[in-house]
Amino acid sequence: MPTVESSPSVIPSLGVGTFRLKDDEAYNSVTMALDIGYRHIDTAQIYKNEAAVGRAIKDSPVPREDIFVTTKVWNDKLNRTHFVESVEESLRKLQLSYVDLLLIHWPSPEHGESMQEYLGELLRVKEMGLAKNIGISNFTAAQTEEAVRILGEGVIATNQIEVHPYLINEKVRETCAKYGIVVTGYMPFAVGKVLKDDTILSIAKKYNVTAAEVVVAWELAHGLVTIPSSTKRENLATNFKALSLKLDAEDVAKIDALDCGDRQATPDFAPDWD
Ligand SMILES: NC(=O)c1ccc[n+]([C@@H]2O[C@H](COP(=O)([O-])OP(=O)(O)OC[C@H]3O[C@@H](n4cnc5c(N)ncnc54)[C@H](OP(=O)(O)O)[C@@H]3O)[C@@H](O)[C@H]2O)c1
Repeated sequence: MPTVESSPSVIPSLGVGTFRLKDDEAYNSVTMALDIGYRHIDTAQIYKNEAAVGRAIKDSPVPREDIFVTTKVWNDKLNRTHFVESVEESLRKLQLSYVDLLLIHWPSPEHGESMQEYLGELLRVKEMGLAKNIGISNFTAAQTEEAVRILGEGVIATNQIEVHPYLINEKVRETCAKYGIVVTGYMPFAVGKVLKDDTILSIAKKYNVTAAEVVVAWELAHGLVTIPSSTKRENLATNFKALSLKLDAEDVAKIDALDCGDRQATPDFAPDWD
């Protein structure tokens, strides 16, 4: 499995997402993904599926140490009182003694706590050995700069942000590149929307592959980690096949040009986007 290296960590470049998947759906998706060959699983406290993900990992013949597991701390836990205990609860649900990557899900603490406070807790969790790597998610360019000022360079493994052909998020990606922070592109298909795009379909035709493979290969061509999700074995397998698809620079550029700022994930507590 190819990986993307950042200074503090090595992250498998293709993972499987679990947003919206509950109970058996999450269990089955992770079970199928591990069977197909995925070794990177993305969950979060707010997805309410850590227990199902944990059961799938436990029941899989794949050794735990071969699997890269990410979870994310939710907005109401971004304080000195609740942060560590929330991670301990995640680990209990996941039936793990550590996660490979722990992220601040949104830079939006429910009670306005400072970034200094919650990043301090994030670092503490790493020092306790509960997370091998730490990172951020949905941080703007300015917030990423601030996080680097607080934690220092070489500490933040990734910024997980929305990246797909309709939202290429260039400014944040450039800021991350400046500090050697790997970008994890979430919602690579814009939840299915970009798979119907004529340009992407014509590129897919040229390589005799599916639109989904083209999109995953485009993310990988940019050096991103990406985490598409699916409830279906066939789609999980198709997405995995993209690891062996190399797009010409010209096709990568054609897909870049589809950017239209069409953001999918923008809850009312989102930051002022770049
Ligand atoms: N950090 C954050 O704030 C944040 C926010 C959003 C998402 N995420 C992470 O990113 C992951 C991915 O995002 P997402 O799940 O929202 O959206 P996505 O991966 O862009 O799209 C998922 C949708 O695409 C369909 N699909 C998957 N593979 C397909 C294929 N080969 N052909 C056709 N359709 C396909 C799935 O349907 P089927 O089930 O029918 O295959 C599903 O409806 C999430 O699961 C989560 O882990 C993180």
